[in-house]
This record gives sequence, C-alpha cells and structure tokens, in this order.
Amino acid sequence: MTSPAQPSTAPAAKPAATASTPLKTFSGIQPSGVAHLGNDLGAIRNYVKLQDEYEAIYCIVDYHALTSTHDPDVLRERTRDMAASLLALGLDPERCTLFVQSHRPEHTELGWLLTTVTPVSWLERTPTYKEKRESQPDDINHGLLTYPVLQAADIVIYKATLVPVGRDQAAHLELSREIVRAFNNRYGETFPEPRAVFTEAPTVLGTDGVRKMSKSIGNTIDVLGEPETIRKQVMSMVTDTQRILRTDPGRPEVCNVCQLHRFFGDDYLEIQDGERTARTGCVDTKRLLAERIIRHYAPARERYLELQAHPERVAGILEEGADRLRPVAAATMAEVREKMGLR
Ligand code: AMP
Ligand code: TRP
Repeated sequence: MTSPAQPSTAPAAKPAATASTPLKTFSGIQPSGVAHLGNDLGAIRNYVKLQDEYEAIYCIVDYHALTSTHDPDVLRERTRDMAASLLALGLDPERCTLFVQSHRPEHTELGWLLTTVTPVSWLERTPTYKEKRESQPDDINHGLLTYPVLQAADIVIYKATLVPVGRDQAAHLELSREIVRAFNNRYGETFPEPRAVFTEAPTVLGTDGVRKMSKSIGNTIDVLGEPETIRKQVMSMVTDTQRILRTDPGRPEVCNVCQLHRFFGDDYLEIQDGERTARTGCVDTKRLLAERIIRHYAPARERYLELQAHPERVAGILEEGADRLRPVAAATMAEVREKMGLR
C-alpha cells in the first residue's frame, strides 16, 4: 500500500523566500541503476516539480554508494543509468543542476569538518545504520556510520533548505538539522536548517505488498523497463491477502494495487468501489494498472533509451552541472574554513 491511504505528512506548502534566504532545493539519490516506481512516486516527481519553483540541485551520490557497492564497473554503470533515468523522468538541465557527488570533492571536505560537531551517539542510533548492521554484518565500514554527516554536507554546502525525499530519509534529514544546529552553535550562524519535502506517496510498498519498494529487496516495478517486464511485475503483486475467492469483497484500503491506481487515473474511487463490492477481481485491477503504468511511462522510456544510446550527452550534462556548482561550493568552503580557524 502506498501512504496516501494514511496521509501523514502533507506535501509542503510553498514557503516564502526572503531576501536573505532564497529558497533552494537539493536532493541526493543513490546510483542504484535504473529508477523504479518507488523512486519516482516517492521523490523524483517532486524533484521535477520543484525545479520549476526554486533553484534546484540534484546529485547522484556515488561516494555514499561506496559504503555498499564495491565493484567499480558496477558503480559506473549504475551512476550512468540513474542519470539517464532522472533526465528521462523529467529533470531538465536548463531548469536544474544535475551532477555526480564525486565530481565536487568539496562535499567530502565539508563532511569531514561536520563530523567534528557530530556526536558518535547520534550516528549510532540512526535507523539506516542499524539496518545496515543487520543487512551487511561483514562490512560495517566507517562510511556507513558517517553516512548521514556526508548527506548533511551535500545539502548545506549549497545552503539548500528544501529536500525532496521519501519517508525513509526523514531520520537522516532530522540528523542534518541537528548537525546544522551544532555547527551554528559552535561557530556562529552559517547554515540554514534544511527540511524534508514529501510527495503524496512518501512510502511506496513493493510488489510483495509488505516492504518498501527497493532494488535490494527485488520487489520493484521497473517503470522504464520493457512493457512485458512491467506486466510481469504488476501481475505478481500481492493484493488483499484476505480476499480468497473472486466473489469475496476486497479491502482496497489495504490493497497495494488499488492504492497505486490513485496515481494513474482519476477513476480510482470507482476502481476501489469495484473491488469492495467484488464487481471486479484483483486480476482485472492488476491488468489495468499494468497497462496504465506502461502508457504513462512510455514517453519517459523512449527518452531513456535515447539517452542510453548517447552516453556522451549524459556525461556532458553531468560535467556541466558539477562545473556550474564549483563557485558556490568554493564560497561555502572559504566561509567554513575561516569560521573554523583553518585560514
Ligand atoms: P535511494 O535509492 O535510497 O537513494 O532513494 C532515492 C529516493 O527515492 C530517496 O529520496 C528515497 O527516499 C526515495 N525512495 C526510494 N524508495 C522509495 C519507496 N519505496 N517509496 C518512496 N520513496 C522511495
Ligand atoms: N541517503 C539518501 C538515500 O539513500 C541519498 C542522499 C545522499 C541524499 N545525500 C543526500 C538525499 C542529500 C537528500 C539530500 O536516498
């Protein structure tokens, strides 16, 4: 089920910019390969929307990925695939800046400096760190512990305040705010406090209907993939597990398929009603969803294939993005070094 059934965090109302704090958007995304439905509904849709409203900067976080991905060729390929996905899904290099984290190495310098205001206890209690200790017990590297500090550096080096992310990033964003407060307390007002901006679907569940959609779990719907792949993935989705017979009434509020229909047509209330009254069966509802997803993403898939056929275009956009940010990153670093007594 997607979260709109239990609206929790309202999408941000547009806050007013002031002359001293022009609002800037920043987000980072792991180079996990081709983006999936959860990435798009949970975060990328907001990246696209916010690029029209604010200065917007988006970053593929390859340094962060090194905490779990150790094959250089895989990392390069996934970085390229994620860049092509973001462009295909609507990021426009004329309206936003897209770049790769390691192309602006100042992030790591600021990340290190921020570790000196961050108590280890804050990092040890981070939920994602605890999860990683379970999921990769033989590789609890130091980068995993300091991961949220580098994330804070990514945001504040550009003094961004609005951070479009999925719900799973809420704790990281809270930590970014605490790190900013700790820095400002020690060295004087320097960074604005960033905050998370959620979409209408801050947590998209995977095809298993239970866990968050995630490549590492293998429960994704690969919206930029072949239509046949999308069909197979959608048809494999778990629906209302209590609806055994076709004639049993369904519970659309717990059915992930019904919930996803919200994003692919105005008639989702009718669809939900059909399930509730057993007029329609789960298989019909899934078939319809698959066709709608395929149709919705067809133009993006075409752009994706076009970009994959021209990797030099993608590389050029990423390089230009990193170049454009050089003066901003340099200015923040000069201010920070001065304040910390390094110059
Ligand atoms: P990641 O691949 O973890 O870097 O995720 C990229 C962005 O997509 C982050 O803002 C995540 O919070 C968001 N995201 C990833 N998976 C989901 C999901 N299943 N539902 C909602 N948002 C998600
Ligand atoms: N931790 C984020 C994720 O896994 C990726 C990320 C890195 C990020 N730096 C960021 C997100 C800065 C927002 C802002 O999805």
